[in-house]
Amino acid sequence: MRKKRFSPGIALLALSVSGCGMAATVPDRGIVVPAEPTSIDFVDPTTVVGLSTRTITEGDGTSGRHVHITYPELDEAPALNRTLRERAREQLRVFRERTKTRAAGPRPELNVNWQLAAASPEAVAVRLRTGEKLKAGWEYATRTYWFDPHEGKAVRSSGLLAGKDALGRLGVLVKRQLLKERGSQIAAGGIIADGDRFDSMAFNRDGDLVVEFDDCQVGPCRLGRVAAAVPADDVAPLLSGLGARAQAGVRTAALKTAEDMDGPPPTGDPANNTEAVRNLAVTTDCAETKCVALTFDDGPGPYTGALLDELQDGRARATFFPLGTNAAADPGLVLRMSAEGHLVGNHGWTHRNLADLPTSKIADSLRRAGNAISTATGRTPTLVRPPYGAVGPELRAVAADQGASLVTWDVDTHDQKGGKSADIADRAVRAAHPGAIILMHDIHRETVDAVPDILERLRGKGYSFVTVPELYGTAGMQAGRMYRSGSGQPLT
Ligand code: NI
Repeated sequence: MRKKRFSPGIALLALSVSGCGMAATVPDRGIVVPAEPTSIDFVDPTTVVGLSTRTITEGDGTSGRHVHITYPELDEAPALNRTLRERAREQLRVFRERTKTRAAGPRPELNVNWQLAAASPEAVAVRLRTGEKLKAGWEYATRTYWFDPHEGKAVRSSGLLAGKDALGRLGVLVKRQLLKERGSQIAAGGIIADGDRFDSMAFNRDGDLVVEFDDCQVGPCRLGRVAAAVPADDVAPLLSGLGARAQAGVRTAALKTAEDMDGPPPTGDPANNTEAVRNLAVTTDCAETKCVALTFDDGPGPYTGALLDELQDGRARATFFPLGTNAAADPGLVLRMSAEGHLVGNHGWTHRNLADLPTSKIADSLRRAGNAISTATGRTPTLVRPPYGAVGPELRAVAADQGASLVTWDVDTHDQKGGKSADIADRAVRAAHPGAIILMHDIHRETVDAVPDILERLRGKGYSFVTVPELYGTAGMQAGRMYRSGSGQPLT
């Protein structure tokens, strides 16, 4: 992993900055693609030292709503971590309040994912993208929080500006530009420069300030994403100290990327990991032995390393269904899963309910997540766990097309509800039966703490711990089919 420390005391560093997306790809040097001025070069999170991800989720069970919120945590930015944690809790609280009474129709869904809009010793920015589905379709909103490593403070995007007057002058520039580009489609009255509306700002590679608006905020919803890029020189006199450093930071990073592209590609080919092959060869015959498959979704997270230690100590194999965004942020842990004999499946890119998406979006989500996992492990996942266990005909067709089987569960430990470790262990042990597929989440400390007890008690009852495909032995699993339990035939 090409991680480096940049300067003493500040480890945050972007080594490669490219593309508009999380899984950064280095463009061909021979082709110069003019960048759309409002697109931001997100930082590849794997190049940032001390980054892990946090997840809040709800809805695999009988809850009336689907919720999935992820955000990063940075060792050296405690104030930012606090801000992001509070924001996530607030979003969950508000969404629960708004969906308290359940209407007929599909479940409401809240999905929050993130990107790093900056990560340098000068400034760090986390862009949260919120998708919310209530009755009508999806609506999207973005908000970007900034962290000043010099001051140790986290601020909203308006903290990039030198006070209220500067923000007001920025508002004038933005309004002028949007009216010029989009004309009368823009509701100019909606462009009010305050911290609540100008809540998502970051710099593009040229140092222009990109101001993003939420869906429906400054014009009809059909406009989709509305953003303005205020030229670097125009915005420079309006910036705060943090803003000026952040602007300088992206320009340095852009230069650095150009230099980096001359360097050698990252080394280390996980496909050549012989340890992984050896461990996977140790399979258990579940026709002869009592087997259960422990499954862990939504990671990797801050407790995944400890879980891998426990599984190793307990000589147990498990099946992991990491989220694409999390796998892309921490490929080292995903490689460790695979190298230690566990199976790594696919849980989609951002935990959207795949049963509720059109075919192209389902395919894209699974492919992106599959790529993140195969980049880490050298293996393309052949199992898909649908987020929230929700399966529709389009998802089945895409899974069949991509050569993957769908795996749900028949034992739910309800570890998402935040109960005690002892209760999670009790539920797993009590409901276990030969062929059980047990649902857990490696993003919760309580779950990880429950695992040694689960292993000991189930082993005492004569169980072996296997990966999901081992449950089906020589019969194997078929692409596009759904599997809920190892004790029967596939459901469809
Ligand atoms: Ni999940």
